[in-house]
Amino acid sequence: MPNSHPAELAELLRRCQVAAALTGAGISVESGIPSFRGVHGLWTRYNPMEYAHIQAFLDNPAKVWGMLRELDELIRQARPNPAHHALATLEKMSKLKGIITQNVDNLHQAAGSKNVIEFHGNARRFVCLRCRRQIDPATLDFSQTPLYCSCGGLIKPDIVFFGEEIPPAANRAAFDLAEACDLMLVIGTSAAVMPANFLPKAAKNHGAVIVEINLEPTELTRRFTDYFLEGSASQILSETVALLK
Ligand code: OAD
Repeated sequence: MPNSHPAELAELLRRCQVAAALTGAGISVESGIPSFRGVHGLWTRYNPMEYAHIQAFLDNPAKVWGMLRELDELIRQARPNPAHHALATLEKMSKLKGIITQNVDNLHQAAGSKNVIEFHGNARRFVCLRCRRQIDPATLDFSQTPLYCSCGGLIKPDIVFFGEEIPPAANRAAFDLAEACDLMLVIGTSAAVMPANFLPKAAKNHGAVIVEINLEPTELTRRFTDYFLEGSASQILSETVALLK
């Protein structure tokens, strides 16, 4: 597939009626949060079945918290990068209806994006697995993990582990947006994880043009992508926004 350029993306955004974005870990790499797959990916150091499956968390929460604490630290220090800011600007310019993100780092919201659908939850929220209460992280002592609620239940970051379902409201909102848009930007995701990787397919089946921004081709590129922009999300999106202004 030939490489496309920010000028083409700017033109597509000018012409479309409803644009949506699907983002993955790649958009936050430039904020200092590693992605999951690839040479520096989190899953090269942690086997996801041992560290990211809900059963692993229930069986051995202390072990899983070893990884969660590392992730929590990185997420707390991270700030939005120009890619997050560019998407927030596109929303303000009424050029982007919403973002479906697989990321749990809250960086789209921190950049000012309003319509953010958290497909895999949010690591800055915590929930008790017994009484289902949301717990304010300010009240938690992260040096004492695993964490327990006053009811005795195990506390879990409000993120979707393997073996758990996508939060139904987010799932519905995400597929509604995918089916309503006529342009979908797929940014910094390997599109290797179901059901998130069904979203571009759903969009395409409903007539949307698929634009992919990634450092390298993915599972989507050959079969679903109409325009592929190879490179860093922050560079490509900043340039695109500058052209639109
Ligand atoms: P992956 O780590 O699978 O993919 C990250 C993608 O971002 C790769 O295709 C990289 O080439 C690309 N990338 C890296 N840096 C980039 C940059 N600066 N600009 C543009 N692209 C860049 O991450 P996800 O696809 O998000 O699930 O992974 C999906 C899910 O798998 C995650 O949400 C997580 C994980 O298991 C849960 O935690 C439930």
